[in-house]
Amino acid sequence: MTSAGPLVTDTEWRAHAAALAATVAEALADSEWTQAFAVVPRHVFVPRFFRRDAAGELVAIEGSNPAQRAQWLAEVYSDTALTTQLGQIDPGSTLRPLTISASSSTQPTLMARMLTDLDAHPSHRVLEIGTGTGYNAALLCHRLHDGHVHSVDIHPDLIRTAQTRLASLGYQPRLGCRDGAHGWVEHAPYDRIIATCGISTVPYAWVAQTRPGGLILTEALAGGHGMLARLTVATDGTACGPFLNYPGLFMALRRTPHRITRPAELIPEQLHGARHAPTTLDPAVLAEPAFAFFCQLHLGSGRSHHYVVEGTTTATVVAPDGSWAQTTSGTHGVLVTFDGTHNPWHTVETAHHIWTQLGRPPPCALGLTVTPHTQYVWCQHPDSTWTHPLT
Ligand SMILES: C[S@@+](CC[C@H](N)C(=O)[O-])C[C@H]1O[C@@H](n2cnc3c(N)ncnc32)[C@H](O)[C@@H]1O
Repeated sequence: MTSAGPLVTDTEWRAHAAALAATVAEALADSEWTQAFAVVPRHVFVPRFFRRDAAGELVAIEGSNPAQRAQWLAEVYSDTALTTQLGQIDPGSTLRPLTISASSSTQPTLMARMLTDLDAHPSHRVLEIGTGTGYNAALLCHRLHDGHVHSVDIHPDLIRTAQTRLASLGYQPRLGCRDGAHGWVEHAPYDRIIATCGISTVPYAWVAQTRPGGLILTEALAGGHGMLARLTVATDGTACGPFLNYPGLFMALRRTPHRITRPAELIPEQLHGARHAPTTLDPAVLAEPAFAFFCQLHLGSGRSHHYVVEGTTTATVVAPDGSWAQTTSGTHGVLVTFDGTHNPWHTVETAHHIWTQLGRPPPCALGLTVTPHTQYVWCQHPDSTWTHPLT
């Protein structure tokens, strides 16, 4: 394999990759994927990445820059997610422009965990949604027949560069520049679909394009508190399975290459004109990941966030229509400040009431069923009396 490229010697990257594989092995005992991290060179897929400097600005760290080379190589082979493409939120709108990560190379131990849960075998046909750098596709090609690996991304530049890098290592997966929400019907059916971007609802095309008995692994419930779900496709055209108790923190699926939708603002810039309401619910409830996940279900495309400053916990909640609430606990008790069409803290209170009645289930006690017409979350069993629609 001629993989090192001009910047790094074989001996050099292999030593770094072996250390990364050891980190993966430590995190996931017995994973069949560990060895792949030792032999697939990540640096080929991440010739540069972006990092925030002390002033909060995103700066490029490049392997081709002699002054940055050592830092670049060390970070490329660390267990870190690396931003590899930047994008503007809502370009052209009147809102404050914001530069964010538009593509990244996922944290290696998370990749290993997902690949393990994907349970893909060498004979399987796999579709990856979100090619990005191409590194995950390379890992799949290493363990599966590369002609069985399919991967799509919405951004043409990403597909072009991934194709070149994969070919430089001798891998020939099928790559397509397209909206992954539609799957890739021309090459269906697949045994496995793995999504490395977040979704609010599961595109039914993924279910339709997976053979009965096949698996779909995706982070569901975009909004910052999503969890991975593993769905098994049945012969009746439905898919069903549990959440897996770990988040991907993936960027949400975008519908065009250049438009990234602004996430709901978490901290209102103006409190002027806001109203107040009492509550008995401590904002610290959102510090519990299991509840934050359950709450996200009720917030839909809204968002919630919490932080602690000098012993005071504050939670901010933004509803899909922009209504917001900020709830603070301190020596004064708990106070809700809100504005908009309604008080979104009520949604958190309702979610907390239901979560408590259900026995405070962790994400892995919940599951998801997808049919051609509906999709809903259940607790403990697909036929549970409590269900909640995903919209
Ligand atoms: C976390 S990155 C993927 C990481 C990648 N698997 C790797 O190994 O580098 C998420 C990717 O999803 C892509 N994406 C976002 N929306 C998409 C869509 N609608 N269809 C296909 N890809 C999409 C982004 O362009 C981005 O490259």
